[in-house]
Amino acid sequence: MNTAFNKLVLASSNEGKCREFAQLLAPLAIDIVTQASLGVTEAEEPYATFVENALIKARHASRHTGLPALADDSGLCIEALNGAPGVLSARYAGEPKSDARNNARLIEQLQDATNRRARYVCVLVLTHAADDPAPLIACGEWQGEIIASPRGSNGFGYDPYFLLPDGRTAAEMAAEEKNAVSHRGVATRVLMAQLRQRLSENG
Ligand code: IMP
Repeated sequence: MNTAFNKLVLASSNEGKCREFAQLLAPLAIDIVTQASLGVTEAEEPYATFVENALIKARHASRHTGLPALADDSGLCIEALNGAPGVLSARYAGEPKSDARNNARLIEQLQDATNRRARYVCVLVLTHAADDPAPLIACGEWQGEIIASPRGSNGFGYDPYFLLPDGRTAAEMAAEEKNAVSHRGVATRVLMAQLRQRLSENG
């Protein structure tokens, strides 16, 4: 399979994510477009693991566009809850999606917990084609613990409750600072290194 390419489809309709990845891919001279801009609808995410859901999303986008595809899947895993909310993080409190209701449910579930250890996980998958036997897979994790009262107004989702070892919550960090250490930042840098390697092997 030829692994050299100059255009990639992002298996998401999120223009913000697309802009972020476009910046990261610019040095590699790779253009990126959202699947929505090519008329591709979002894939189902039926699995219990981030990697399976990211893989099915990337494959779906490659299948419907004939292009290499990049997909991400991420969420929060709590040790005392056996890894929940995990792949259900965005909809932990049901539909419609609500950060406020998700956080309220999480705090209620952890009311009596002494072990409050948590980690954010992000998996990125890049398929060169729908039948790619060796997709690139990168994982990033970020360790913290869940506090009972929110602090900070940056970030999104569970960030005001996610306490880092330095005593700040993720919502008390500037965006660039968070990107430098977060699960998404780590996974992105790992994927970029893998991609550079693949492209250099291709001459
Ligand atoms: P997505 O699939 O990457 O858009 O994220 C899935 C869900 O996981 C989000 O809706 C959030 O609830 C949670 N999540 C993932 N990453 C973060 C983060 O960096 N901060 C807060 N919540 C996050």
